[in-house]
Amino acid sequence: MNEAIIFDLDGVIVSTDHYHYRAWKEIADREHVPFDEERNGLLRGVSREKSLEILLELAPRTYSAEEKKQLAEEKNKIYRQLLQELTPADILPGVLTWIDEAKEKGLRIAIGSSSKNTDFILERIGLSDTFDAVVTGADVEHSKPAPDIFLLAAERLGAGPEQCWVIEDAPAGIVAAKAAGMKTIGVGEFVQNSGADRWALTLGEAKL
Ligand code: BG6
Ligand code: MG
Repeated sequence: MNEAIIFDLDGVIVSTDHYHYRAWKEIADREHVPFDEERNGLLRGVSREKSLEILLELAPRTYSAEEKKQLAEEKNKIYRQLLQELTPADILPGVLTWIDEAKEKGLRIAIGSSSKNTDFILERIGLSDTFDAVVTGADVEHSKPAPDIFLLAAERLGAGPEQCWVIEDAPAGIVAAKAAGMKTIGVGEFVQNSGADRWALTLGEAKL
């Protein structure tokens, strides 16, 4: 029996790709690092720190740990400012139906996100009190593609990994869920060939 659903946040509940892109692009331009939407795709699902490492792979110089810390903080400041634009109208199609149906069936639901801005985003879109558990990159040492976020979410829901379905839009998230021993539903073009148990272009078309 399916007991629980763990939703990724960015790209599943709400689309934040473009805000991340705008914020990283500002940093990249300032540091003379080539960066475009395609490279932004490489940052999907992974932590802020790992995202910066990937971005700086094309930098003309090396950076100290302190400089990296500062750049990550600056990026987040710009990103948080942009997130002010989010409203409940930005919840992606199909999300509220999934939540309602899960509740009707008595399934427990959680958020499992790498983002340390999860609470702020949920607040902006009016879903702060919706989930039975919320686990973020701030709760674990190893973010996705490590399984830790999903394993902690299952624990907080009181469910075994084999009872959990994970809904993900990023390859790193599918890898993390599989490593956790959970079933996966891939949503969107970026995970079409990532080995998810089920796949749909949008959450509205996906089925449990
Ligand atoms: C993930 C996003 O959900 O969160 C990544 O897909 C992002 O692109 C990561 O890097 C960390 O986000 P934040 O909000 O902690 O900087
Ligand atoms: Mg995502």
